[in-house]
Amino acid sequence: MSRSIKPDRTTWRHYFGGFTMLALMVQLLTGIFLALYYEPSLKGAYRSVQYITNEVTGGSLLRNLHRWIAFVIFLAVFIHTVRTTLRKDFLNPEKRVLWLTGVVVMLPIFVALVTGLILPWEWKGYWLMEMVPNYFGALPLVGDGLKRFFLESFTLPRYEVLHILVLPLITFILLDYHFITRLRRRGIFRYMARHLIASSPLWVGLVVLSIYITIPSQDPEMIPMPLEGQFIPAPEWWALLILLPFMYLEGILVPALSFLLPLVVWTVAALLPCLLARKEVGTEEEREPHHATPHHRARGVKLLWHRLWRGGRITKIARAVVVTVIFLVFFSLVYLGSYNSPTLGCNSCHNLNNGFRMGMPPEDFKDRTKLPYLDDNEWMMGHWFYPQEIY
Ligand code: HEC
Repeated sequence: MSRSIKPDRTTWRHYFGGFTMLALMVQLLTGIFLALYYEPSLKGAYRSVQYITNEVTGGSLLRNLHRWIAFVIFLAVFIHTVRTTLRKDFLNPEKRVLWLTGVVVMLPIFVALVTGLILPWEWKGYWLMEMVPNYFGALPLVGDGLKRFFLESFTLPRYEVLHILVLPLITFILLDYHFITRLRRRGIFRYMARHLIASSPLWVGLVVLSIYITIPSQDPEMIPMPLEGQFIPAPEWWALLILLPFMYLEGILVPALSFLLPLVVWTVAALLPCLLARKEVGTEEEREPHHATPHHRARGVKLLWHRLWRGGRITKIARAVVVTVIFLVFFSLVYLGSYNSPTLGCNSCHNLNNGFRMGMPPEDFKDRTKLPYLDDNEWMMGHWFYPQEIY
């Protein structure tokens, strides 16, 4: 039995992990509400989303909350990951399952993000849906087959089932292994209640954001400007991150950086405890004993601080530099990919006032002989970032 998780103590060590769990639960609740009104058809999807936002009592709040939480979850997961990595949890044999499921669960959460962005089936959703096949199509050898698979298999009802059933199921099963099973023995409600209290400022912030910074769904009555929504954080930002190489690079570099690099990082991260464990056989005692043994680790805060202190100034500086670099790289990429993406502006041209063709994603959207520029990633990326220049 692990002594390393102490939900009944002050929980700063997994503050963001607990917050993520709460956020996922709220996503589940707001999601059930949205699913009651959502209509998964090409003609009806956007109309039903507009209906939720403009007509249903509380609809706008719940929809925007669902969006803001989708954005914030990735920040929380990121901080949680950096923290557990710095804590060297991957060296702790007791935390192997925690580590593995923690890394693996990021995938269904990310896929939930992408499918969730497609479902409203306005022009951003349509754009993203077309970029998914393009994304896999860029891979050498298997690209063409995968591209055809993603084009052929896409329909709104199927993606809705993925989004509201399959992915949440996988996510919560993984989270059960991640920490809920252990928690159940110690009082999950107490843990959740404590986290809710501890994270209440964040929740107040999220509600305020959901009330004041909303996505407009009032077209064609109210039409945004083409560049509206620059700098407003949106869940799209995380999906754009892996598409960025399509904008700035060419050839094999694109799949290398957008697909292979994330895949390798993810796989190595997931298997890290196993990879390191093999090297450790027999050397457990020779290595600095206070470094990895769970008993010491269990003493937590004090020991961590002590170790940092003992590690001396160099260790501290090195740590600070590493953390700063990780954060800088990550957030520069986010900035690069998002500061000039007009999150709210697409409907300035793509609305029913400009004709039916512009009001709704075309029904023959999968037919790329009719719409050849859907194959052209440079055009697609350009149109997303500079819609007023490229069309
Ligand atoms: C300045 C006006 C304008 C803005 C703003 C704009 N678009 Fe477009 N978009 C167009 C025009 C014009 C076309 C070409 C339509 C055609 O004739 O096929 C187009 C085509 C597209 C297409 C290609 C497929 C198709 O059916 O034609 C997609 C996808 C698309 N837009 C998505 C977006 C997204 C996403 C945004 C917001 C980031 C956006 N557009 C913002 C004018 C605009």
